[in-house]
Amino acid sequence: MFRTLAISAAAALALSTGGASAAGGEITVENYDFSFQGPFGTFDQDQLQRGLQVYTEVCAACHGLQYVPLRALADEGGIGWTMDEVRAYIDQNFIEVYDDDLADWRAAIPNDNFPVNDSVGAPDLSLMAKARTGFFGPRGTAIYPLIYGLGGPEYIASLLTHYTGVEYEEFGTILYGNETMQGGRISMAPPLWDDSVTYADGTSATVDQMAQDVASFLMWTAEPHMMARKQFGLVAVIILGIFSVLLYLTNKRLWAPVKARAKGTTPPE
Ligand code: HEC
Repeated sequence: MFRTLAISAAAALALSTGGASAAGGEITVENYDFSFQGPFGTFDQDQLQRGLQVYTEVCAACHGLQYVPLRALADEGGIGWTMDEVRAYIDQNFIEVYDDDLADWRAAIPNDNFPVNDSVGAPDLSLMAKARTGFFGPRGTAIYPLIYGLGGPEYIASLLTHYTGVEYEEFGTILYGNETMQGGRISMAPPLWDDSVTYADGTSATVDQMAQDVASFLMWTAEPHMMARKQFGLVAVIILGIFSVLLYLTNKRLWAPVKARAKGTTPPE
């Protein structure tokens, strides 16, 4: 009786830990050093602009950003453009949206969102940096995410740089070997090659550089007000700190007579 119990318990344990590592791990995610990490981290405006360029010139061919308003490019704490620059971006890239009222396509205005793109079934990238987790474990304990963060942008940058170069044909479609993708195969062909884009600021457009730039940009699309949130959090911590000191002093003062009585001395005035 005890033996069967022990065996089934051991089997259950083996199954559950096996399951956890299969669901959680075996994917390669590099721990990049992004400027926006940590409690005081901020977006690097130049990097966001480069990332937008990579998105526009490469990823937008297959992926949409349908939850991001174009005017957000002029928001504080992000890309940092003026409204005129946003309009110029729309003109230069011939961004069009489908207008339900007109029942036709028309040129986008800053109040429109980036276009939807489901032409090849690629997922929308607006919230991708929040939808993916790069760090798990160890052994399903979620301690790494506490230390390194959830790793959404790290996941995206790793995905773009960890193609194995091996191609598989499955049911008539080509899948590409990728060490970051769960299961090791992805239907997205490697989108980046050295010098896929030419950066205006002279940064050398290596695959690694472009991957990190576009990952930063996608972190911004997923959390455009991150910097405001961090600043607000800092102010809140400072105010709460001051209040804690005041509360401590008030508490001492309030209880001083009671303490004094307990000790049998006269309370301080
Ligand atoms: C030729 C079309 C194409 C281009 C260009 C392209 N993608 Fe993709 N992408 C896809 C498809 C298709 C998928 C779905 C892959 C799958 O689920 O197997 C995908 C999936 C993804 C995913 C999700 C992977 C996951 O975990 O599910 C990310 C992130 C991504 N692409 C980022 C990018 C970025 C960033 C760029 C630009 C540098 C880019 N893609 C360029 C077609 C493309």
